[in-house]
Amino acid sequence: MTKAITVAGLHKSFGRTHALDGLDLTVDSGEVHGFLGPNGAGKSTTIRVLLGLLRADSGSVRLGATELTGLAPHRVAALGVARTFQNLALPPHATVADSMLLGRHRLTRAGFLATGLRLPSAAREERRHRARVREVAEFVGLADDLDRPAGALPYGKQKLVELGRALCMEPRVLLLDEPVAGMTADERRRTAAVVAGVRDSLGISIVLVEHDMGVVMRLADAVTVLDFGRRIAGGTPAQVQSDPAVVRAYLGQETDNAAEEATP
Ligand SMILES: Nc1ncnc2c1ncn2[C@@H]1O[C@H](COP(=O)(O)OP(=O)(O)OP(=O)(O)O)[C@@H](O)[C@H]1O
Ligand SMILES: [Mg+2]
Repeated sequence: MTKAITVAGLHKSFGRTHALDGLDLTVDSGEVHGFLGPNGAGKSTTIRVLLGLLRADSGSVRLGATELTGLAPHRVAALGVARTFQNLALPPHATVADSMLLGRHRLTRAGFLATGLRLPSAAREERRHRARVREVAEFVGLADDLDRPAGALPYGKQKLVELGRALCMEPRVLLLDEPVAGMTADERRRTAAVVAGVRDSLGISIVLVEHDMGVVMRLADAVTVLDFGRRIAGGTPAQVQSDPAVVRAYLGQETDNAAEEATP
């Protein structure tokens, strides 16, 4: 199995806090990979290092065979790493279609000048991008909302717009930091189905940071458990759930919830 992401010996300190303390992990191509761990374990720090938003003190991150370590965020994005934001980051008055079109930016060749001059090539290119936006909207279940202002949609749908925008980047890897936080049960189910669909039909590797154990256990093909900035366990969701180190570190109070949520 080829590796989508390889993290080796990652260290990152904030003052005296060792947020990452020699973290090693791998994410296989085409899988949904869950990051679990208690509060402060280093999950979001790992995501921020992967995105180039934060520079590690030492260690390396690779995308396939490409070294990402030290690259600026726009270079990482250009290599095909997309993310959704933990907090909503949609332009408030833009339509759903235009919000998702923002995701096409890095794929746009014509540029603003040509668009401003209304060159035929630019118009053709915009039509092509809008057609792709429509396809992605259908995929995430927003086809009927394309002309609505994104900011006026219910919260769960706004999160789907974000996911759609990330998919419009045609990424190789998608990083989702708590994608179902704050959603209703119905929105959670729907988002989970979309994430599974992204893996199954688009073949994109997905890193899923999520406190909702039920969602992780249902969706993830593999899980890495972090504690104190290190990998303390990994494997399939079932293996991880019964790992004594995990139960000690984290699952203690949460296994009951997970069991409830996993029951259809
Ligand atoms: N910018 C920062 N400045 C100082 N300390 C930070 C910073 N970012 C993270 N930390 C610390 O690093 C540690 C790891 O934080 P991180 O946000 O990666 O945890 P997490 O696993 O995402 O936790 P949570 O589940 O609560 O989101 C914590 O002790 C946190 O307080
Ligand atoms: Mg976090």
